Amino acid sequence: MKHFCKNKLFTNKVKYLLFIRNYCYHCKKNKVKGKVVVITGASSGIGKALANLFANNGSKVVIGARNHHNLMEVAEEIRLSGGEVVFMQTDVSNENDCKNLIVTAIDSFGTIDILINNAGISMRALFEDVDLSVIKKLMDINFWGTVYCTKYALPYLLKQKGSVVGVSSVAGIKGLPARTGYSASKFAMNGFMQALRIENLKKGLHVLVAFPGFTASNIRNTALNADGSMQGESPRDENSMMTADEVALHIYNAIGKRKNKIILTSQGKLTNLINHFFPDLLDKMVFNHMAKEPDSPFK
Ligand SMILES: NC(=O)c1ccc[n+]([C@@H]2O[C@H](COP(=O)([O-])OP(=O)(O)OC[C@H]3O[C@@H](n4cnc5c(N)ncnc54)[C@H](OP(=O)(O)O)[C@@H]3O)[C@@H](O)[C@H]2O)c1
Repeated sequence: MKHFCKNKLFTNKVKYLLFIRNYCYHCKKNKVKGKVVVITGASSGIGKALANLFANNGSKVVIGARNHHNLMEVAEEIRLSGGEVVFMQTDVSNENDCKNLIVTAIDSFGTIDILINNAGISMRALFEDVDLSVIKKLMDINFWGTVYCTKYALPYLLKQKGSVVGVSSVAGIKGLPARTGYSASKFAMNGFMQALRIENLKKGLHVLVAFPGFTASNIRNTALNADGSMQGESPRDENSMMTADEVALHIYNAIGKRKNKIILTSQGKLTNLINHFFPDLLDKMVFNHMAKEPDSPFK
């Protein structure tokens, strides 16, 4: 009898804790309701998944990317499912476009609570072969695009004690061969975001850097070759990767919890761990792994 009572007490405690956890999750979910979220690179992949996720949970989303048609389709999809969305054709490597995107958000919704710097492109070429314009383009989009959008959104984010997010990459934790420009742009983004966080530590600004691992998306199709042309196809098995929807959900939850950093995929987490303790060993592991890609520019 005593044993039975103890068990019942334990079950009730667990039920109570589960109730609190679900309640907190619900509150967190509702936290984004009515919030204004600006997302760059929302015409495809992770950005598109983020736009749908935030809109489905009651946020007002402002989306930007270069491809007008794709952007319009994402906006249409959101509107059809009852979401609030505004889109603006934006090339984040153009400072004025970034300013316009932020002005559009303010004109449409009066404030900005969350800025997600997600727009990005990749590359695949050895540094000794690559045209320097490729590296410049990667820095212009992945790094400067983040700087421009953050600069114009910051006054509103500070007022709201909001969140600014940088979508980096595991290539921003460990340099990837044949991706010098990509890794450099993501390392630069990490440094920028980290300094921004510390600078605004007493002002309530939340700064999150997300480090996705390999994610199924368009990124390897649009990756630039040595001469700046697009690769056109993915050298990897996209079906075995984390989905863009999963990545979006991780970022969404991390914003809710005001986390500083998330590293995604088990491969990404392992890379981070090995890099911490055995960086030289990881150099060799990364070389061997990436050299196995079909048509790898190094062996
Ligand atoms: N997929 C992965 O394996 C992976 C891994 C780690 C990190 N990431 C990062 O995740 C982010 C999203 O990539 P994704 O995987 O979702 O690739 P994706 O499907 O190719 O999406 C990239 C998005 O960025 C936009 N974009 C590219 N250049 C732009 C520019 N100059 N101005 C504005 N928007 C631009 C693209 O739209 P437009 O072409 O219409 O402009 C597109 O909406 C990137 O920052 C990427 O580095 C991806």
